[in-house]
Amino acid sequence: MIEELVPRTVACAEAFEDTVGDGGEDGLFPGEREALGDAVERRRREFTTVRACAREAMTGLGVPPAPVLPGVRNIPLWPAGVVGSMTHCDGYRAAALARASDAVTVGIDAEPDGPLPHGVLESIALPRELDWARAGSGGGAVHRDRLLFSAKECVYKAWFPMMRTELDFEDAEITFTPASGTGPAQPSGGAFHARILRPARNASGQHVGAFEGRWAAGRGLLVTAIVLPAPGGAVRGR
Ligand SMILES: CC(C)(COP(=O)(O)OP(=O)(O)OC[C@H]1O[C@@H](n2cnc3c(N)ncnc32)[C@H](O)[C@@H]1OP(=O)(O)O)[C@@H](O)C(=O)NCCC(=O)NCCS
Repeated sequence: MIEELVPRTVACAEAFEDTVGDGGEDGLFPGEREALGDAVERRRREFTTVRACAREAMTGLGVPPAPVLPGVRNIPLWPAGVVGSMTHCDGYRAAALARASDAVTVGIDAEPDGPLPHGVLESIALPRELDWARAGSGGGAVHRDRLLFSAKECVYKAWFPMMRTELDFEDAEITFTPASGTGPAQPSGGAFHARILRPARNASGQHVGAFEGRWAAGRGLLVTAIVLPAPGGAVRGR
């Protein structure tokens, strides 16, 4: 799913089930095993499988497999010259990586295509987002409240590693373009625009005031992705 949402310069890997973590060889690097500590089984599985995805994406990018350790605020630490993002939810794990010469930052997020818990939408949505989310959910359409949530998580994952400053839910306003399909059995997707209400400059002096993202729905999942192209980088569409 994720591959359809990003330019060809982004190497992706995804898994719909855990192929590692059954007590055998976990494929982790020693530092990763240390970072994982005595985490519960569920965490061990998502951590391990998403890192297998990351390694597959590194190979796709032509980068030797390397550990992915948590950095400040748990950002994934990538090999030098690489940017990327990882996500995991029930039934899905994915990694998306790019060379820093092609992308300034990448953010991806996946969520189950189900309603948010009661009260969450009101705590994450701006007024116009709230109207949009309430207008279209139900009747077999994707769960707009969850899609909005995923897009905001995606924005944060693209924002934080690049800016190293917090971004709250009310600091980004998301506008979705119409979906190409509506039923849960019929994959659908589209694009979204994230306007940053607290724009800032990144370490390279680039003004970051918006992100363009894409989303897909299918297999009971909602997946969102943002790739901010590097100035002068190779951006090739799918
Ligand atoms: C960090 C956060 C975005 C993770 O999202 P999530 O849906 O809970 O979890 P996902 O499974 O999709 O992603 C987890 C992965 O995100 C990555 N991640 C964690 N913290 C991160 C951060 N600060 N920046 C970027 N990526 C981060 C990690 O790779 C993590 O996987 P790992 O722990 O196995 O290494 C979320 O927990 C959070 O803190 N959200 C609040 C901030 C926010 O969303 N603001 C909205 C701004 S509009």
